[in-house]
Amino acid sequence: MSLSSRPTIEAAVVRVRLYRYDPQTDAEPRYEDYEVPHAPRMRIMDVLDHIHEQLAVDFGYRWLCGSKKCGTCAVTVNGTPRLACWEEAEAVMTIEPLRNLPVVRDLVVSRDPHDQGLARLQPLLARAEPYRGFPEPLSATDMAPAYHLRDCIQCLACVSACPVLAQADTGFAGPAQLVALAELALDPRDGADRAAMADEAARVFQCVSCYECERVCPTHIPVVGEAIEPLKRLAYRRGASDGARRARAFIDVVREHGYVNAPKVAAKTKSGRWRATDVALAARMIRRGKMKLTDALGKPPTAGAERLRRILDDKEDKQ
Ligand code: FES
Repeated sequence: MSLSSRPTIEAAVVRVRLYRYDPQTDAEPRYEDYEVPHAPRMRIMDVLDHIHEQLAVDFGYRWLCGSKKCGTCAVTVNGTPRLACWEEAEAVMTIEPLRNLPVVRDLVVSRDPHDQGLARLQPLLARAEPYRGFPEPLSATDMAPAYHLRDCIQCLACVSACPVLAQADTGFAGPAQLVALAELALDPRDGADRAAMADEAARVFQCVSCYECERVCPTHIPVVGEAIEPLKRLAYRRGASDGARRARAFIDVVREHGYVNAPKVAAKTKSGRWRATDVALAARMIRRGKMKLTDALGKPPTAGAERLRRILDDKEDKQ
């Protein structure tokens, strides 16, 4: 909730549980408790400033603009990533660093994994044609698909909330990098192969569309709907990765059967590339009732299959 919408708290003091950890010297993180006198419409950052300046506590935290522009002040408050300079303090707060990023010290996280991943996606306009001078021949309609994505301040709140990034070794670039990539992919002036980057470098199909990134985004960017789904649409046409093949197989099977015939989706995705682990997974899914053998053996198409086919064909024609 932003400053404008959160009701002002009435407590006389703000009780804070502050995360403390210096990986250079501490064996493990600890928490320290502080009480800060409450002031009307006090921000999280004001509370941190009070602890640092008035209580003279030497701890690491970071901010720059103080006005929701630079994206440097994001921290985790009571389990949710928030912009410290923009959100109002709560009466009781546990303040921790963002998740899914290495801690440098206390509330300061390293942005290196994000910056290095972003560099691999060549986050600059790669013009398909030479610059024709100002003003560029662009209409609002041309730029509409990327319009909301330009609000991203790269605060990495979405990175902190992403459950896929919390898993080890998925290769997934994460929502913040995908917003930057989509902004270029949807720019009509860009000529780089953004579909290949989305599919291979960013592993866009690792996204499970849980919408956690959208829930926490302080600038309310429709991350899944306007960045990740368009990138998946671009990437699946290439069909180069397992994820892209699965997306293609999913649509083909639904078109053919009128429902998600899971064994056929798996068979089409893998076609000729089955490994022992895939077979074991299929057996496990059948055992647990997540995949039905009867579907694999030829359950007939549903009554609405033809109508669904027409809808899907119509959609593909328009893309
Ligand atoms: S300090 Fe810049 S966004 Fe919060």
